[in-house]
Amino acid sequence: MIGIFDSGVGGMTVASTVEQICPQIPLLYFGDVAHTPYGSKSAETILGYARCNIDFLLEQGAKVIIIACNSAAATSIQTLRAEYSVPIIDVITATVSKATEGTKKNRNRRIGIIGTRATIQSGSYEEQIKQRCPACHVYGQECPLLVPLIEEGWLNHRETKMVVRRYLMPLRQHQIDTLILGCTHYPLLTHLIQKRIGRQVQLVDSSIEAAQCLKSFLDNSPEIISNTREKKKNSQPHHLEKNRFFVSDVTPSLQKLANKIFGRNINLIKTDA
Ligand code: DGL
Repeated sequence: MIGIFDSGVGGMTVASTVEQICPQIPLLYFGDVAHTPYGSKSAETILGYARCNIDFLLEQGAKVIIIACNSAAATSIQTLRAEYSVPIIDVITATVSKATEGTKKNRNRRIGIIGTRATIQSGSYEEQIKQRCPACHVYGQECPLLVPLIEEGWLNHRETKMVVRRYLMPLRQHQIDTLILGCTHYPLLTHLIQKRIGRQVQLVDSSIEAAQCLKSFLDNSPEIISNTREKKKNSQPHHLEKNRFFVSDVTPSLQKLANKIFGRNINLIKTDA
């Protein structure tokens, strides 16, 4: 069983990609909607939430954890890995690898990152990019208004376009060739972001990279696969309905967004983690 958490629906972009590339692996999702957004909170508070989320997923039977929240990964990953013996996959490491490989190939080594305030201020992406590619120039842009707009379901509103435009302006001026979507909510705005930053800029989606990272991890860890794989007589993918989606609060806009991300009705189970 794979346990995935985020502050809200953002991590569902990771869960949905995991369903597509590892359809036989059962998932448990926890969205800490009651405490969203994480990105404007202190590192200490985010760490406390992350611990509760992991404890909840482990109690429910998770054998591998994906931190599908850049804000939690950026601020807390080292502490969490030191505290828990379970394998923990995070969105940032995988994303950095893809972005640096991309920018080294016939590109200008200028990487932009958009994320929450907690993610950008942690310097975590910049540090990891510099380790892999010291010659890269890194430009971070905090986008604190995007998560609330997305959680509200304002994916095509004029106001959202204006905010995207405002946040991307400095990155356009820096002539970046690669842009990291450093928040798992942002894939829901890919259409606006790509249009505004320009088609020549390669977008790196942290939700896709985290899901790919899980797949490689499972391919190299057969013992975990046999523990987590659905035990079925035939080899058909397990019924996706068996995946469980827990949230610490439910609202109509959240339900709508969850259904949109997965393209089916998602049964959100309210729980106090
Ligand atoms: N989706 C999350 C992230 O990747 C969290 C957004 C938030 O709660 O601020 O950072």
